[in-house]
Amino acid sequence: MAVGALSAAEFRLLRDYIETHCGIALGEEKGYLVETRLAGLLAETGCSDYGSFYRLAANGSGTDLRDKIVDAMTTNETLWFRDTHPFTILREQLIPPLAAQILEGRRFRIRIWSAASSTGQEPYSIAMEIHEYCRTHPGIRPEHFEILATDISPSALFLAKAGRYDDAAIGRGLPPGMKERYFVPQGSVWCVSDDLKKLVTLRKFNLQDSMDPLGRFDIIFCRYVTIYFAPDFKRRVYEGFAKLLAPDGFLVISAVESLLNVTNAFDALSHGGGTYYQCRP
Ligand SMILES: C[S@@+](CC[C@H](N)C(=O)[O-])C[C@H]1O[C@@H](n2cnc3c(N)ncnc32)[C@H](O)[C@@H]1O
Repeated sequence: MAVGALSAAEFRLLRDYIETHCGIALGEEKGYLVETRLAGLLAETGCSDYGSFYRLAANGSGTDLRDKIVDAMTTNETLWFRDTHPFTILREQLIPPLAAQILEGRRFRIRIWSAASSTGQEPYSIAMEIHEYCRTHPGIRPEHFEILATDISPSALFLAKAGRYDDAAIGRGLPPGMKERYFVPQGSVWCVSDDLKKLVTLRKFNLQDSMDPLGRFDIIFCRYVTIYFAPDFKRRVYEGFAKLLAPDGFLVISAVESLLNVTNAFDALSHGGGTYYQCRP
């Protein structure tokens, strides 16, 4: 069966469908991306053109095809300790005052959300940072921390939950000694240690959904995801974080993202060449 190329009308239908279901906003020039990312699913569903593929997705009652489309359209690029300075900020600026409150008996737990955690490198890097902190700060234990890691992509979450990384993935960004300390070799892969896994709860979450059921957080990492969103959705996400964070809570975004002209719910702070944000009182 010959497969038709993506027409301009089909592109618009699929573009709107994708934005409706995951907030990813595609510019007019992204036809090739839709075509290449969805070609496999087109073949899998037996559709001969993108128009019938769209109708199958839009009229289908199940979430299966929708999940697969969202999965195919998300970019899951990530690495360990990505950009370094967010983790320096975590270690030197964010954890110490919260840990001091634990030592003073003014709090019992520090809750961190990795909101778009992809295949797990970000939340497990946070977990390694916490373990390193606990090793050098008597009285502070990993049980004082809770990391919620969420993503919309079922396949990214599957890999994160498995916590198994091949040499190529493990080699991207891990500082010396960390592989030996926090991973267990198993054949040709490296498995995240139980100590790290215990700290991280992974679950599916679409940033378009209500954040209220997730509870309060002291720190939110949300990096390299709002770059894909339209301005209104971006604002909704950041203002949702501001409501969810504890009054003095912190937000860490990537260097390619900015809150400027998006929301004024946060104050920008800098440390070690990196920027992070604190909720405005
Ligand atoms: C490029 S990765 C970033 C991973 C990690 N935060 C980092 O900085 O290395 C972006 C992630 O955002 C997720 N994502 C995209 N749209 C989303 C949405 N609406 N809700 C939740 N996650 C989403 C994708 O599935 C992908 O895993």
